[in-house]
Amino acid sequence: MKYKDEDIEKLNQSLKIEEVVGQYVELKRAGSNYKGLCPFHSDTTPSFMVSPSKNICKCFVCGAGGSPIKFYSNYKKISFSEAVKELSDTYKIPVRENYISKEVTDEYKEYYEIMKLANEYYGEQIFENTGRESLDYLTKRGITPENIKKHKLGYALNSKSALTDHLLKKGYGLSELITLGLSKESENGVYDNFRNRIIFPIYSLENKVIAFGARSLENNKNIPKYINSPDTPIFKKGNILYGIGDKNSIIRKKKYSILMEGYMDVLMSTLHGFDVTLAPLGTALTEEQGKLLKRFTNNVILSFDMDAPGQKATEKAILTLKKIGFSIRVVEVEGAKDPDEYIKKFGKESFLKQVKNSIESFDFLYKFYSKDYDLNDIFAKQNFIKGFKEFFLCVDDKIEKSLYIDKLSLNIGMAKEILWETLVIDNKTNKKELRKKEEIIKKIDEEEKEYEVENLTASLVLMNNKYYKYFKNKDFQSNFLKKIILYFEKNLEIEKEINIINLIKSDEFNEKEQEKLLDFSLIKYTRYSEKEEQEKLFIMIMSDWLRKDVLDFQKKRINIEISMELKRIDTQLKLVANIEEILALCNRFNKILENRFFDI
Ligand code: UTP
Ligand code: MN
Repeated sequence: MKYKDEDIEKLNQSLKIEEVVGQYVELKRAGSNYKGLCPFHSDTTPSFMVSPSKNICKCFVCGAGGSPIKFYSNYKKISFSEAVKELSDTYKIPVRENYISKEVTDEYKEYYEIMKLANEYYGEQIFENTGRESLDYLTKRGITPENIKKHKLGYALNSKSALTDHLLKKGYGLSELITLGLSKESENGVYDNFRNRIIFPIYSLENKVIAFGARSLENNKNIPKYINSPDTPIFKKGNILYGIGDKNSIIRKKKYSILMEGYMDVLMSTLHGFDVTLAPLGTALTEEQGKLLKRFTNNVILSFDMDAPGQKATEKAILTLKKIGFSIRVVEVEGAKDPDEYIKKFGKESFLKQVKNSIESFDFLYKFYSKDYDLNDIFAKQNFIKGFKEFFLCVDDKIEKSLYIDKLSLNIGMAKEILWETLVIDNKTNKKELRKKEEIIKKIDEEEKEYEVENLTASLVLMNNKYYKYFKNKDFQSNFLKKIILYFEKNLEIEKEINIINLIKSDEFNEKEQEKLLDFSLIKYTRYSEKEEQEKLFIMIMSDWLRKDVLDFQKKRINIEISMELKRIDTQLKLVANIEEILALCNRFNKILENRFFDI
């Protein structure tokens, strides 16, 4: 950020949301709030709420809104920093620019120092009596004390605050330890973030310790197997790869890298001489991580886990890396769940053979996608071919594209020209749209882009409990909504009507979610107080859900009858006018699901 965080905060607090919005939107009072027509979508009834007490605005239909600065930047279509500058000028509230001062670099120096000391401390504990269990565990997994020392593995004691105390004694401040994610503070005092865990140090490109991955020694399903350092001033997990610190020059020299899923896979393969292995850090591979790797090589071999999530992650990684122009191969290991297990079971020679036998990314996708389709069925085959659209959008080079088309044509027995037209020419217009979409998505806040329908669903059941029954069996993505539904399940029988205040106070929700609940319950006092408006919202939400379900189902291996019926449902979805009609469509879809389609 170009300006100081604290100054931006101050600016946001000094600006009155109703004044900033009020310049561009005609606002009317609604209780302690204001409402008006939403400027971000074509609104006919006022859906844009402005809350002076919270100093935010929000559209309950399209979800746009936010703080005064956020609103201004969205409305004027300028960047956040530009908005800060303009508002600061207009309202004469000064903001200072951020520049990396000497103070900041010194602060960072201290952060690195602390992380190094923490790593050393963890490293000592593993060889103490109290670390016995961790040493035994690693030995069992085939890791010797020499390996441990060489790779600076460690052990976080099963103690409340051993590391924190150790570092405080050395004179470092608690706030630094908290910033670095080493310590936490609670009502019961300070405690260590990592307890009773094996510690894997994570290094920066300059080979400095910047974070830790920590594996639990307990075999308990209720606690996470791994926890990692949170993002800190010196660590952003989507921007770094596990192992890149000490392997980047070897990767450059050998001209390839192998990507694996876990710390253990990387460690075990390294111990067996595979000195180009890396892993993302507990999340899907990001574009930033790809770009980082691209600085050292253009060739990558993916060796993720063999289970379904691992295969899905391989597909995603292929698309991400292809976009950046990598040449990609995929290792398929049979008889083990991951490279770590494979090397232990079959030895390094055998793994090397698997690496040499790795298949080209396109061949992997061909195999992967064809599992879902019955290629003897014309409709299925059509969908199968369209499944490659995303891949072709990621390939930039024309010759490469043409080589892939040749391959596909050969595999599937279809003329190259038609494939070229479908996957390259027709796809191009999509590409522009895709780019636009991507940009928009990037712009919208993480929080807001997630689960729009799910948020609407939450507001609907909160304002009228009778709708709950339609959603109770749905498969939700957001934990927030899952928790609301669970609460309904437990309490609706007893309470008859859900009391919002009880719900909010029910301990299930964190502060942010409580805010959200309050916001959602406010919607009741907008135009949605009317029954017809609620029904309209219900139809819209149900249509969204059904459209999504139909789309997902169309991707499956289905016969012509079902495929036609899905198409009919999809067409009629656009014409739905009342609740009965949408429920009837849902019923028809459920019949397909229950395999009762043929009794209609
Ligand atoms: P795995 O469970 O495959 O890890 O998760 P692993 O390294 O093979 O672990 P072992 O063999 O059981 O010890 C892959 C990676 O996903 C992240 C970690 O980075 C892990 O290495 N992960 C996994 C988490 O961040 N949290 C978890 O709870 C689990
Ligand atoms: Mn494993």
